[in-house]
Amino acid sequence: MSIDSGYWKNAVTFVSVSLAAYTSWKYYQAVLRRDTPPVKQSVDELIGNTPLVLIKSLSKATGTQIYAKMELCNPAGSAKDRVAFNAIREAEQDGRLIKGEPGWVFEGTSGSTGISIALLCNSLGYRAHISLPDDTSNEKLSLLESLGATVNKVKPASIVDPNQYVNAAKRACEELVKKGGRGIFADQFENEANWRIHYETTGPEIYKQMNGLIDGFVAGCGTGGTITGVSKYLKERISPHVVLADPQGSGFYNRINYGVMYDKVEKEGTRRRHQVDTMVEGIGLNRITRNFELGEHYIDESIRVTDDQALKMSKFLSVQDGLFIGSSTAINAVAAVKLSRKLGKGSRIVIIACDSGSRHLSKFWKTAKDVDRDISLEQVMVD
Ligand SMILES: Cc1ncc(COP(=O)(O)O)c(C=O)c1O
Repeated sequence: MSIDSGYWKNAVTFVSVSLAAYTSWKYYQAVLRRDTPPVKQSVDELIGNTPLVLIKSLSKATGTQIYAKMELCNPAGSAKDRVAFNAIREAEQDGRLIKGEPGWVFEGTSGSTGISIALLCNSLGYRAHISLPDDTSNEKLSLLESLGATVNKVKPASIVDPNQYVNAAKRACEELVKKGGRGIFADQFENEANWRIHYETTGPEIYKQMNGLIDGFVAGCGTGGTITGVSKYLKERISPHVVLADPQGSGFYNRINYGVMYDKVEKEGTRRRHQVDTMVEGIGLNRITRNFELGEHYIDESIRVTDDQALKMSKFLSVQDGLFIGSSTAINAVAAVKLSRKLGKGSRIVIIACDSGSRHLSKFWKTAKDVDRDISLEQVMVD
């Protein structure tokens, strides 16, 4: 071999290695740019644009693709961050709150919305006053107190009772305003800022993340804001089968499927608790709210899920997928499996993953953690 040919061989090797290194470097720069979100100026800017993740275990078992919209990734840990943000934003727009000046946000809530309001108020410079049932999970109470919110615990009661937590919150706000203070009653059940923000943000995000290919959408209903806002957005563009996943004791199942807001626990003497008779928090109701009413016609079907199925599903997803979810998400997952059997193989279903299991450690997960770690999906789905 001549000196010349050795030289050229080395030169070619050098150029190839350099080119490969440069291409890899460019590629990683591109990946870094794609995956690293820009710096935000305050916590409220972290709301929304939540990820969508394939639930591998359920997808494999059903031959479909079931995705979770990870609303639990919002800064206060649930979809309610969006609602709290929009209730405050709309109040600022019409002058009921003034940016940079003291003001209060009142709400009656079984937890998630209160936590979102408390966190957002701190980020935006307001104070939060939260009324809730006194049997709300300890995690939620501690969180509210840790965030410095004023907490008003009331006995669980029917909405017609003046001491029911929503009525208590409204009254507290009215008293402040009467005395000349500045405050708003967020009123998540009736306030249309609720469904509007899901129409403006959650719906478009899901549509974009799924490239417009969605056969089924599953959500529970507490206020109705999520299911109304997202379904309206999706149904105006495509025609997914929209399912309201309903826990035991809630009236929506009969309302959607048979037109009557009724559950058999309504029969005198059979209801154990004043509200909906389930371990599941945040969804299920026995009255029609404005946010539900406006979107009812977009809902194709309601699927009933028992507490037992939800408990087993939450442990199943925790062990099989590393997905540690709250009770309402477990209800949605069970309903999604039932829906997948109806829609058939290859269909694409999105569920809302509203909050994390860590919100429910002392109540729902106290029982769920004892479910056998090797439970099968068939065992989860037994009625
Ligand atoms: C944990 C949880 N999941 C689901 C929901 C239902 O969402 P929406 O009120 O939009 O119907 C709520 C509502 O409070 C909730 O707290």
